[in-house]
Amino acid sequence: MPEATSLTFSLLPESIRQSSAIGAEVQLPPGMSILDLDKLTENDKDTLRKALFENQVIVIRKQKGIDPTVLPKFAKIFDPNASDIHSAGEKAVSDPKNILSAYKAGRIPKAPQVGIIGSGIFHDYEGLKELEVIHLDHTLFHETPLEQDELDQGFTRPYRWHMDTPFYERLPGEVTILHSIRIPNVPDQKIKFPDGTEKTVGAGATAFFSGARAFALLTPEEQEFALNTTVTYAPQAYEYIRQCKASDDGLTIPTMGREVPVEKLSEWSWDKVAEHPMVWRNPLNPERPFLQVHGCCVYKLTTRDPKTGEVTVMDDVEKVRSVVYNMQKKIYAAENIYPHRWEEGDLVIFHNRGVMHSITGQLSKHKLDEDKRRLLWQCTMTSMEPPKAFRSYEGVNETGYVRV
Ligand SMILES: [Fe+2]
Repeated sequence: MPEATSLTFSLLPESIRQSSAIGAEVQLPPGMSILDLDKLTENDKDTLRKALFENQVIVIRKQKGIDPTVLPKFAKIFDPNASDIHSAGEKAVSDPKNILSAYKAGRIPKAPQVGIIGSGIFHDYEGLKELEVIHLDHTLFHETPLEQDELDQGFTRPYRWHMDTPFYERLPGEVTILHSIRIPNVPDQKIKFPDGTEKTVGAGATAFFSGARAFALLTPEEQEFALNTTVTYAPQAYEYIRQCKASDDGLTIPTMGREVPVEKLSEWSWDKVAEHPMVWRNPLNPERPFLQVHGCCVYKLTTRDPKTGEVTVMDDVEKVRSVVYNMQKKIYAAENIYPHRWEEGDLVIFHNRGVMHSITGQLSKHKLDEDKRRLLWQCTMTSMEPPKAFRSYEGVNETGYVRV
């Protein structure tokens, strides 16, 4: 007889999901208040995987008190190929050239796969004597920053849409797990979309859009192009763009010129540079194509005509960005974006290979105020298996790295 399952999930209300195709809430089995992996049956784990791979972002509420060492084990329910190494490397990053050190992401000493992000200064936290975490700042990040009066009116934007992966040396994890320890006591903020719609979001909301929804919005010609295309990312991608500024929607870099010249990057080699299909296959929804491409880190597109076998290479970075942006920008509408409104204790699992996500929120001016501080755990572990191409064809790179 199959083991009983008592773990269930329900979709978030239509008023929140809108057209995003994202969002479900998991109810743990009766009597289990904090997630206890040892008590989950195989059926419970199947239900969790179904909830995630169909809805891309799932939340378990009221998990305050969960031990950080549980997160890496939990991630393996969704990604049996996960390594025990955080995607950003084994240790916290202190290299000033690395994006993660810009917001001083720390690590939990007893669970090095779990990073700490947020805003503010904390003392004696999880074995760390002093921890300062920094939220991104709207006055520094976009090509056209929000004006002071817009900030005063509570406007925010996505900073930069991404998957959790460095696009160099390590492959993206299937999932990322976030856990909110402390929520800043800051009023709601709002995002203005190109059609004039304003969407109210919790301060510091994490925003998501589905790669499946992004693919569905493409024209048939664009879909065909995407299915036949492999994306090569920039060498040391985040270092390459570290001085670049984002577009208002956080999807691309609108101007050329601030890139770090390739010969001035930290030591690199092509065999560690990420190369992925433009359209990925979902492990439990194999019929649904996901457009998964990081519009700011792209470098080169290689497209193969499936009928003739002819290969076309586009390696002008400005053109590559603009081609990707024209495809991806269709998703940027209020009804397609799911901004997770954080509650203290939330455990959020998202399908890192099925969504793009972005930080939002202007919090930094509050960082010294005790009740305005924010703290989140983030666990994302590099996977040993590269993403699967939706359409397999001869020559597509499923090694995850440039072939040399
Ligand atoms: Fe992220």
